[in-house]
Amino acid sequence: MAAENKATNITWHEGHVTREERGALLKQEGTTIWFTGLSGSGKSTIAFTLEHALVQRGHLAYVLDGDNIRHGLNKNLGFSAADREENIRRIGEVAKLFADAGLITMTSFISPYRKDRDLVRQLHAAGKLAFVEVHVSTPITTCEQRDPKGLYKKARAGELKNFTGIDDPYEEPLVPELTIDATSTSPQEAAALLLEYLEKQGILGKE
Ligand code: ADX
Repeated sequence: MAAENKATNITWHEGHVTREERGALLKQEGTTIWFTGLSGSGKSTIAFTLEHALVQRGHLAYVLDGDNIRHGLNKNLGFSAADREENIRRIGEVAKLFADAGLITMTSFISPYRKDRDLVRQLHAAGKLAFVEVHVSTPITTCEQRDPKGLYKKARAGELKNFTGIDDPYEEPLVPELTIDATSTSPQEAAALLLEYLEKQGILGKE
């Protein structure tokens, strides 16, 4: 469910600078690249590799990372279904604002629920903003073998409840724009694939 407006007596105030003007200034089209996948699947590594590659090419790009955002903006949220929904809703809104501002934003959140991701997609479509869903489909066996934060081990030992993929659901995207399996694709290869995709879509402007 999309959150209702709690405030009344509020009026939208239109600015004087158009999105086109901002796009011309930055020589790119504001876009959200939404990475979804299990913990340890490689979302953040790919997102930060792509951010670096884009900035090296002269683009303004920024990563909103689940673990990082939970240290600040979303520090009051846990991992219940309702809190995950609110986590994704807020980040969807922030990403939309960044896209409107002209940035290329990579979001790296498990975002396990299809309806929550679809709401963010709709939010972007309604705002005529590009939204690219990337399923980082690395199998759970690989994520668990890697276990970079030792969380799968904790979850298996029963020390961590509601861990995605163990005792909490993950709903795969049905029609993501791209699917990347980090078992067979390095972060550099993934970033190259994404750059190629963005170029083809005309998001990186003209040379
Ligand atoms: S989401 O489900 O709401 O999208 P988000 O991406 O923000 O999750 O945060 C996931 C990260 O939080 C994981 O990579 C992991 O480091 C940590 N984490 C801690 N507890 C859990 C849990 N119960 N389920 C999943 N991830 C958890």
